[in-house]
Amino acid sequence: MQVCPYHGWVYDLTGALIDVPHKDGYPDDFDKSEFGMVAASQVDVYRGFVFASLEGSGMTLAEHLGAATALIDRAVDLSPEGELDLQAGWLQHRFKANWKMLPENDCDGYHVETTHASFMHATDSQAMDLLSDADAEPPVVRDWGNGHMEIDFNVAYRSRNIPFEWFGRVPASKLPNYTAAMIKAYGEERAHELSVTGPPHAIIFPNLFLGELNVIFYYPVSADECVQLYTPMSLKGAPEVNKRALHQTEGAVGPASFLIPEDVIIAERNQAGLNAGGRDWVDLSRGLHREYEEDGKIVSHMSDETVNRGFWRRHREEMLRDHSK
Ligand SMILES: [Fe+2]
Repeated sequence: MQVCPYHGWVYDLTGALIDVPHKDGYPDDFDKSEFGMVAASQVDVYRGFVFASLEGSGMTLAEHLGAATALIDRAVDLSPEGELDLQAGWLQHRFKANWKMLPENDCDGYHVETTHASFMHATDSQAMDLLSDADAEPPVVRDWGNGHMEIDFNVAYRSRNIPFEWFGRVPASKLPNYTAAMIKAYGEERAHELSVTGPPHAIIFPNLFLGELNVIFYYPVSADECVQLYTPMSLKGAPEVNKRALHQTEGAVGPASFLIPEDVIIAERNQAGLNAGGRDWVDLSRGLHREYEEDGKIVSHMSDETVNRGFWRRHREEMLRDHSK
């Protein structure tokens, strides 16, 4: 049930109007069914993630997600019950930048060494080791099409074949119940594979960020202000993982943490820089000369702007599309 804070009209969770205060102000034939909330024209669900389009997107959810369902699968399959729980609590950061600064940043691998230098120095992060390990495949960025994109650390994790390296190198012996539950759910081989590859680091266009073991989304307030919401990605049936993931979230995305506050400040500074004018175009050519195609996706070095180009390509299509159809 929802109550409008203005005049106290009461709606049920389907959006139907079920009561109004002081009914005698309306005639007897006042028809509540005519005053329900306007439904989103498209709502669909993939593995528990609810997607909605207020005015219709011109494509089904399956068409919109395309191959990128694999990115969502990569997260949800980490639960031995095949389900996520997003009830650990939500943080919100409101800040003065256009919302598109966020998808620009979230899969950008070029800023990590500089923007997050303090994180690299203070923690035992393996992110940069992966780039410099001559015996491992380096991480890449991948444009999945339709504006979906990722930094794929899995390539590196797979080549090193170390379980839970993505989880701060925690030894499997510290997660005995989780390991047993995963083997029971998926079998030895698949459970090992999942323990090695870990979660996605991916943007589902336009505003869902699967940030390792965090679910993050954002919405605009105005052209130069937005809100970003975060919660740990708790895995159903995996309390050992969730307890540790909660502390990782506190260190990565909370207001006194390393990563996201740094990205938010940079987004605000970038916005101020754009507002300063002086140039009509921002260069996004990094890595164009070394991109390659793999399984229908565009792939390049982790520091390349392949993902930014993929995001803007889809954004441009949406802005030019006739939304009346
Ligand atoms: Fe960042």
